[in-house]
Amino acid sequence: MKSLSLQLGLGVVSTLASVHAFYMPAESELHERTIMAWPGNTHPYYAGHTGSLSLTLLVSSEQAADAQNRAQHSGQYGVKVTVTDQYDLEPWMRDTAPLFVFDEEQQSDRYGLDFSFNDWGGRFPSNNDNFARKFLADSRIPLVKAYITADGGALEIDGNGTLIAARTPILDSNRNPSMSQKAIEKELQRVLGVSKVIWIPGVKNPDVLDDHIDGLARFVAPGKIVLSRPTPCSGVWAEAYYEAKRVLSQAIDAEGRSFELIDLPEAPADNAYMITSYVNFYLVNGAVISPAFGVPEFDEAAKDILQNLFPDRKVVQVYIPEIALSDGGIHCMTQQIPAGGKENNPACLKADCR
Ligand SMILES: *[C@@H]1O[C@H](CO)[C@@H](O)[C@H](O)[C@H]1NC(C)=O
Repeated sequence: MKSLSLQLGLGVVSTLASVHAFYMPAESELHERTIMAWPGNTHPYYAGHTGSLSLTLLVSSEQAADAQNRAQHSGQYGVKVTVTDQYDLEPWMRDTAPLFVFDEEQQSDRYGLDFSFNDWGGRFPSNNDNFARKFLADSRIPLVKAYITADGGALEIDGNGTLIAARTPILDSNRNPSMSQKAIEKELQRVLGVSKVIWIPGVKNPDVLDDHIDGLARFVAPGKIVLSRPTPCSGVWAEAYYEAKRVLSQAIDAEGRSFELIDLPEAPADNAYMITSYVNFYLVNGAVISPAFGVPEFDEAAKDILQNLFPDRKVVQVYIPEIALSDGGIHCMTQQIPAGGKENNPACLKADCR
């Protein structure tokens, strides 16, 4: 049995002899805060208001004054501007930041998973591959090392035992070259608390992500998935969509359910690098923050569909022309820290721990 090294703050504090189970709550569970980053150097992105309960915005020291100034106008929701010395800070917190999990033994409030981010299969060598470790050390949240490489945007969980993922960004050689599918599944089960992994084929390389699931298929609730349907529905992305639909329509989840699948048509894209998927939304407490692409009939239709899917949440659309052209979306730029404490720990409730 692999031993688990547990890092607290800046140093390795203890090594647990036995592996215990972790559990990642669904994004729809209560959040404490959201992490976003104001990218370093030359990137022109501007995050804007997220509607989150509370936002930690990481910025470089040169941007601190500007960010503070804008944060003052962020209304009732707190934006905490945090200066980081991370060089060349990437904005894609879904992939570079840790994923946050609970454990059934409640040894800590929360843990951060380090998935050994490798710059999307080594495509953009930078030093963001140590960002998760640095973030956890700086915020004194204990680290759990996952013994596989995965981008957060490549993992979609329902919080009820099921993970869906495309094969391409995880099983292909540029992320985990020397591991078998079985070993990878086992590790995903250990760190995310899932018992079933459903693979869709995915597409290699039309974009750098190798087909992250968070632009293609998202859980609305356990047993219910919203799928992004390309417009027009032809070409390589359409094939990926049809394959995902075929696989998911035949799949059975961890609880023995078949999936209800809902289509959400994409806005037409200006070019091949533009991501116009509305399923790259981000769930915050009480709301769905979803993208708008400035194509009114598509933006409005997407808003209606999402509002029907999430009747208890307010759907807030944010116009993201720059982000969409940068091969990402709102979900890619955000990472939730779930609310801590036993009362908010679904694993603990399930296990009845105290
Ligand atoms: C799914 O949720 C139900 C209801 O909360 C629970 O009883 C069940 O154990 C969960 N299953 C898994 C695999 O997490």
